[in-house]
Amino acid sequence: MTDLPIYPLSDEHKMLRDAARDFAQKEIAPIAAEFDESGEFPRQTIKKMGDLGFMGIEVPEAYGGAGMDSLAYVLALEEICKVDASHGVIMSVNNSLYCHGILKFGTEEQKQKFITPIASGKAIGAYSLTEPQSGSDAGTMKSKAIRDGNFYILNGRKSWVTSGPVADYFVVFMMTDPAKKQKGMTAFLVEGSTPGLIRGKKEPKLGIRASSTSELIFEDCKIPAANRLGEEGEGFKIAMTVLDAGRIGIATQALGIAEAAYEAARQYAGQREAFGQPIGAFQGTGFKIADMKTRIEASRLLIYNAAIAKEKAKEKNGRYSLEASIAKLFASETAMFVTHQAVQIHGGMGYSKELPVERYFRDAKITEIYEGTSEIQRLVISRLELGIK
Ligand code: CAA
Repeated sequence: MTDLPIYPLSDEHKMLRDAARDFAQKEIAPIAAEFDESGEFPRQTIKKMGDLGFMGIEVPEAYGGAGMDSLAYVLALEEICKVDASHGVIMSVNNSLYCHGILKFGTEEQKQKFITPIASGKAIGAYSLTEPQSGSDAGTMKSKAIRDGNFYILNGRKSWVTSGPVADYFVVFMMTDPAKKQKGMTAFLVEGSTPGLIRGKKEPKLGIRASSTSELIFEDCKIPAANRLGEEGEGFKIAMTVLDAGRIGIATQALGIAEAAYEAARQYAGQREAFGQPIGAFQGTGFKIADMKTRIEASRLLIYNAAIAKEKAKEKNGRYSLEASIAKLFASETAMFVTHQAVQIHGGMGYSKELPVERYFRDAKITEIYEGTSEIQRLVISRLELGIK
């Protein structure tokens, strides 16, 4: 295998990447298949990832995080996802969809209370935007928050919440003024133990099975007005800003899955013989290997580019939606392509649960769906390129 030259990494980046690689190989690899099979949430390893600083990599140390940059985040996440996409998405949601938004839009008190336990890995954070009738068209949600003195009363039904069954804290989006559509949406921070917050059914899923996903039902759930994140009406912009960060995480998850599938296929192509030679010596397999490798390297460059764009945007409070959507679109379609080819190269063994290749194939699909489908990424990219609102 050839390691192509990539962005120059600092010693700190390399140390974090190596620590994540080491942890993933030693602690996650031995349990990944078992947790995929049982669908059980991997609490112990997630707790250890918190101890190592992986659950709040870009969060300043003052709020319990590792105080590193966006490139450090994707380097560590890539290593975790190479071994297990379920651990990967739990880490990604915690870092990007939860911590990032509060860090950017929260008050000092909110940061102290709602980031510190999560970034240090003592508790788990989740993000809840989607509803049964409102997925890609996020501005059409029906859940409502009504102000009542120093409180808000939340009512509604949310769906597809990553870490929903287990999270301790949630960023939740609700309508405060439905007539205003997107401009009537508001973000809230909700403690998991609040009366009136009910965890709904856990979703049985094709892949990322060790990451728990569920509905959330809000029935007269009363939260302090101090838990509003940003101003009333700012919710949609907060949701979208946070999703830009999230999309880099999912792109990285897709990259990790693709790299794992590629490495398995590369080794198999060199060992498995047919018609008197290794199957990799047949052009039909060799060209697959070439296409897989090329798309993986392109994905990695797009992701590192998006991470650097995100870092630069921090300085001037700018956007990096284009870089994030391009990275997610390309990396998630690469993950599908690579895992599909990896199963094919393995033949019958690719279809067997004795090898992890079928798990990579199942895990890859969600990266084209959540945090904005491939169609939504194409919409974002084309609108930005064409200057269409
Ligand atoms: N950053 C900041 N502001 C943004 C923004 C961004 N990335 N994207 C849009 N906005 C702003 C716009 O500038 C606009 O502001 P003004 O009105 O002030 O000009 C406002 O938001 C409305 O924007 P649009 O008119 O573009 O809104 P739209 O209704 O056409 O929707 C969309 C745009 C891209 C389709 C958006 O709805 C979208 O991304 N949908 C997909 C939602 C999604 O990814 N859901 C996944 C949920 S999380 C999940 O998967 C579960 C999990 O737990 C992992």
